[in-house]
Amino acid sequence: MKPKLLYLSRADVEAVGVSMPEIIDALAVAFREHGLGHTQMPPKPSLSSGADSFIHAMPAYIPALRAIGLKWVSGYPDNPSRNLPYISGLIVVNDDQTGLPLAVMDASWVTGMRTGAATALAARYLARPDSSTVGILGCGVQGRTNLRALKCLFPVRQVMAYDANPTNSARYAAEMAAHPEIGGAGVQVTAVDDPRAAVSGCDLVVTAGPILKIPHATIKQGWLDSGAFASMVDYDSYWDGAALQEVDKFCTDDVPQLMHYRGLGYFQSLPPIHASLGELVTGQKPGRESAGERTIACNLGLAIDDMATAPIVYRRAVERGIGVWLEL
Ligand SMILES: NC(=O)c1ccc[n+]([C@@H]2O[C@H](COP(=O)([O-])OP(=O)(O)OC[C@H]3O[C@@H](n4cnc5c(N)ncnc54)[C@H](O)[C@@H]3O)[C@@H](O)[C@H]2O)c1
Repeated sequence: MKPKLLYLSRADVEAVGVSMPEIIDALAVAFREHGLGHTQMPPKPSLSSGADSFIHAMPAYIPALRAIGLKWVSGYPDNPSRNLPYISGLIVVNDDQTGLPLAVMDASWVTGMRTGAATALAARYLARPDSSTVGILGCGVQGRTNLRALKCLFPVRQVMAYDANPTNSARYAAEMAAHPEIGGAGVQVTAVDDPRAAVSGCDLVVTAGPILKIPHATIKQGWLDSGAFASMVDYDSYWDGAALQEVDKFCTDDVPQLMHYRGLGYFQSLPPIHASLGELVTGQKPGRESAGERTIACNLGLAIDDMATAPIVYRRAVERGIGVWLEL
């Protein structure tokens, strides 16, 4: 029999319907294994064919999940003006016994969901359990999935949504208010035109605008409340150096990758690094220790996030008969 692989389009991946709680659980296993040193994840080789654009190769192996493969993902900041997505790419899932490719799938849904899940996993250790107000800065794909993920773990009641483009924050507020997991669960979503209104007074803050080497540094000292948690999905682009220095615990998903980016010119005003996400999950380092601490998760986005998620999508697609089989 000739080997075959399953091709899953963006619509196929979405139709498979893997839930956010399943992805958070899978990432919890992946980060426990990462914290114990049981994963393989060489640093991302990176290409750039334009200012602030990238194409990354992201390979990973998580033996505990029998998950092995690669994401090939690009980010092109001018794409929205071309009516194209900022982030696009493909994931290859391989067989851990034979190495054969089992599936090729669109990467955008997995990227959106696993990044939200990583924020929620970090928040499980770093945020106050009673956190109920969320600030979203950047109302795109990540603004949506990060909110959905936080709603899975926290008693969210109110969301303040800011975007540099007010049309996007208005559309976000309307869409999220109609979403069964958000508005349908009683959460109130308000579009705001001042970025501070999505930071001060919020328990959980997510910044998800464009990643810039030179931060626009909108969030100033004194904006983030005592006791709040922030997730830097767009790296340090939103943060003024003095505001970052106010933070009590600064954590990241992978210290070597953070240092790699620092070498490339990002993260020039870093506070001391308290822990990696794997160290928080395994208990090697404490998470939040008092209600008044300001905490930050700077998840750069790791190949293990994708490899924890994509094999679930593949297996469920096979069970449900979704996708197109292709001969190798
Ligand atoms: N850390 C990770 O693991 C990870 C993973 C995927 C994407 N990202 C990053 O997350 C960011 C968002 O990605 P996306 O797919 O949601 O993009 P998107 O294009 O869907 O949404 C971005 C939104 O940000 C808005 N925006 C632009 N400048 C802004 C500003 N200064 N303040 C507030 N909003 C602003 C845009 O109008 C748009 O609505 C990107 O920087 C991307 O590289 C990070």
